[in-house]
Amino acid sequence: MPVLRNRFKQQLNPAVAKYVASVADDQAFVSADIEGSMAHCAMLARQGLITTEQSGKILQGLKLLKKSADEGTFQLNEEFEDVHMNVETHLQSLSGKDALRLHTARSRNDQVALDFRLFVLTQIDAMVLLLKKLQSAIVSKAAETATVVMPGYTHLQRAQPVFFSHALLAFYEMFQRDIERFVQSADRTAVSPLGAGAQAGTSLPIDPIFTAEQLGLPSVFANSIDAVMDRDFAVEFLMASCLVATHLSQLAETLIIWNTSEFGFIQFCDSVTTSSSLMPQKKNPDPVELVRGNTGLVVGELVSLLVTLKALPLGYNRDLQCSKPPVIRVASELQSSLEVMAVVIGAISVKATAMQVAASDPQLMATDMVEYLVVKGVPFRQAHEAVAVAVQLSEDNNIPLYEMSISDLKECCAEFESDVYDVFDAVKSALSKTSPGGTGKVADALKTVQTKIAGSCSQQRGAKS
Ligand code: ARG
Repeated sequence: MPVLRNRFKQQLNPAVAKYVASVADDQAFVSADIEGSMAHCAMLARQGLITTEQSGKILQGLKLLKKSADEGTFQLNEEFEDVHMNVETHLQSLSGKDALRLHTARSRNDQVALDFRLFVLTQIDAMVLLLKKLQSAIVSKAAETATVVMPGYTHLQRAQPVFFSHALLAFYEMFQRDIERFVQSADRTAVSPLGAGAQAGTSLPIDPIFTAEQLGLPSVFANSIDAVMDRDFAVEFLMASCLVATHLSQLAETLIIWNTSEFGFIQFCDSVTTSSSLMPQKKNPDPVELVRGNTGLVVGELVSLLVTLKALPLGYNRDLQCSKPPVIRVASELQSSLEVMAVVIGAISVKATAMQVAASDPQLMATDMVEYLVVKGVPFRQAHEAVAVAVQLSEDNNIPLYEMSISDLKECCAEFESDVYDVFDAVKSALSKTSPGGTGKVADALKTVQTKIAGSCSQQRGAKS
């Protein structure tokens, strides 16, 4: 049964029918579409646009459809073009002629906007949950390794000792901002477009606020044309996703480097490494590399959506159908990446001695020597230059900084005393960085995030019970 063709003289060309159908993507929207219909039906009855009896029949049919959607047995048929016409057609077989009243004061244009928003809201919840799981994995690993010291890097050159846990917690902060971005975008997504109709609104006495309330959406569109055209929420979802993917790729790359024989700071357990078809000795970090690689897909989908939206003329345009696949693909891909990354973090074994040895390179304490002189009253820039000369001498004479005699050091700066040798301890160096947010404060930082995680876990338990 072709969709609504009474005013046409010809059948729709089969290739065209296949081309315009969106059932493959719309499979992800079935539940949302039925929920939207339930809310709309309740509103129509409340406003006297259909009778209580009619709404009862429609709701009964919709409940059956919802059940089959939840069980995954509601398969969309290409013949009916999209999820909306599929639901409507099925409903007729369940609710009879009363189903013909459901589309009163409604268009597929406001329907698809609603479905898409509900879908994105569900995906935001899933992302936030997975981000929190990843954060928990990071914090557990940080707590396990709280006193392990390693070189911190700038320009991928050894810089100063830091705690390994401090390095891990840097990623906790990135993912915290990602959570906040998703949560903030949810406010702008949770706006009901139902009642906008095709684009003008309707002459019938509807109550869009009631419909929104039925759906648990806190607000309603202000302009009916904007309501059917707005896909900003999808762009925001992909923008937030791009930053998650970017952060994941930074974490992936960092772990891959730390896992190399050249660094040897960590090792991935066998459960997260793969073999080579040719080289028997190989243990490759493929899952982590794929997390890094899939960033391309996520960023690409944002660009794809923006190009689809660019220069669309005002109103609903069928191009908007192309706005759904990028979001569906990114949601699925990124959620898998987050899940895998949380597993990987738990499957890291830390090589504390190798890190400690690398962090004990005396050149990493050059800045501590500068701060030592600053405490003795030497102006910072002068102290910096004096230590630079000491570093150069140490390199020229092939003598580590801590083996240079006090008289050689005094030649660089008279304020050096024999207690300067105390700075050449990586753990002490890291512990001394007690300025707010510094690596010496990591124990406090760890406690703070552990408390936050415990709080959010008990909140989740509360929400479930
Ligand atoms: N399937 C369309 C979409 O995903 C919604 C239908 C709107 N079609 C129309 N002819 N107004 O955007």
